Amino acid sequence: MKLEKNNWREKAKISAAKKAVEEVRDGFVIGLGSGSTAAYAIKEIGKRVREEGIKILGVPTSTQAYLLAIENKIPVTTLNEHPSLDLTIDGADQIDKNLNMIKGMGAALTREKIVASASKKLVIIVDETKLVEHLGENNHPVPVEVIPFSLFPVMQKIKKLGGVPQLREGIKKLGPVITDNGNFILDVSFGKIENPENLNLKLKLIPGIVETGLFIELAQTAYIGKVDGTVTKISTSSSSWVS
Ligand code: A5P
Repeated sequence: MKLEKNNWREKAKISAAKKAVEEVRDGFVIGLGSGSTAAYAIKEIGKRVREEGIKILGVPTSTQAYLLAIENKIPVTTLNEHPSLDLTIDGADQIDKNLNMIKGMGAALTREKIVASASKKLVIIVDETKLVEHLGENNHPVPVEVIPFSLFPVMQKIKKLGGVPQLREGIKKLGPVITDNGNFILDVSFGKIENPENLNLKLKLIPGIVETGLFIELAQTAYIGKVDGTVTKISTSSSSWVS
């Protein structure tokens, strides 16, 4: 990835990624997130493996993360071999002050959520444009992964919940985006989301929805890269799903 001159957002992502990777310890099994910010973290982890000789294993959350891990000489493993991870580092599309998030603009939300929920600690890395008062503001959609067989019934039910679903189309590929799990993505606009936990539960009850991009009470820490070059750390006291 080329760092454009004066692109403060790329610098902010790199600074946040470097801070998060300081949390990696020798012997850790780590979830490797997806997206452009997580890619910087994977590169930084690879650097620590090469330069410090730390022994770690990575569980990639997508084909993108898998290929980057291989390229950066990070040994990979699976959740079936290591069902409990020490740490996951991932990006986000929107994040609020409680560290609830919208994720999935890279279509990796299902594996990202599975890996996050298997981790003792989820650390999120973003630039400050991702920080919001309310998830869904600025008409940001909630990505939802859907089994192709159920597409139209799911769209109908989403509309009844007040959402406006749009099937995600490929770029440089005709037709819908196909996820790493062989499914479709609906980008659903709900406007400002007052109760993301409740919306997540309602969506999860629709047959055919595999997973939603609403990540509720999963992250413990976020590193936010700022326009002034600093990085702010936000932590919650909420406990993770894995002890
Ligand atoms: C992937 O599906 C997403 O959840 C990413 O984590 C998210 O889109 C953040 O990506 P960027 O770091 O590229 O903004």
